[in-house]
Amino acid sequence: MSPPSSTDTGANRGVLKHVFAGLEQSFASLPWLFELLVELYRPLVRREMAIADVDASDRVLAVGCGALPYTAALIAECSRATVYALDCDRDAIADARRTLTRSGSGARIELVAGDGAQLSPTSLDVDSLDVAFVAVQAGPKTEIVDHLRSVDCGPDRIVVRRPRPAFAAAYGSLPDGYEPIDSVAQPAFAFGRSALFDGRKTETLPTDT
Ligand SMILES: C[S@@+](CC[C@H](N)C(=O)[O-])C[C@H]1O[C@@H](n2cnc3c(N)ncnc32)[C@H](O)[C@@H]1O
Repeated sequence: MSPPSSTDTGANRGVLKHVFAGLEQSFASLPWLFELLVELYRPLVRREMAIADVDASDRVLAVGCGALPYTAALIAECSRATVYALDCDRDAIADARRTLTRSGSGARIELVAGDGAQLSPTSLDVDSLDVAFVAVQAGPKTEIVDHLRSVDCGPDRIVVRRPRPAFAAAYGSLPDGYEPIDSVAQPAFAFGRSALFDGRKTETLPTDT
């Protein structure tokens, strides 16, 4: 189990998350960078898919896909699941579309502009979602997780990347009270663990600290 974390600084707070999102957009025209990130993240995403038990029948939401949507691409490639890749930044979605077209990895991925804390699964033209993956930069994580748990036909599994302490203030983290049902250590620069949470819960949980 992962240790509890205690901050969730919000979607639009934190210079660092904007820097990384901006970097992705700045370098979105470099095909080799996307391919490199796909290979670097392959074992990490495989670990996440293993704890969430993702298979080809799942409909997966990737919250915060960015201009270089390597997480969404890996989920689609490795599981053959249908993936809805979501970003609240329309420019990132436009870049992501070009990235996926250029790499030929866009099959089974639908790009969607929207906020993970407000999305309605029915707006995706899908009966229900099965799994959600929340990027380490996406936030506020409490609002995203609470929202996904409260919507009709939301995912029953939610994977959240947990920032390392140095990144917690910038990226936000789920506070105490959000107990994962499983988690796995990750050797990533910005996050040290991916945690699996139950979806489809409606009770009110502690607010961000
Ligand atoms: C820099 S990307 C990193 C994701 C990475 N490309 C991947 O494949 O895992 C993080 C993205 O999350 C998006 N984001 C942040 N908060 C969000 C939210 N509440 N809903 C949807 N997208 C969000 C940002 O716009 C940014 O593009």
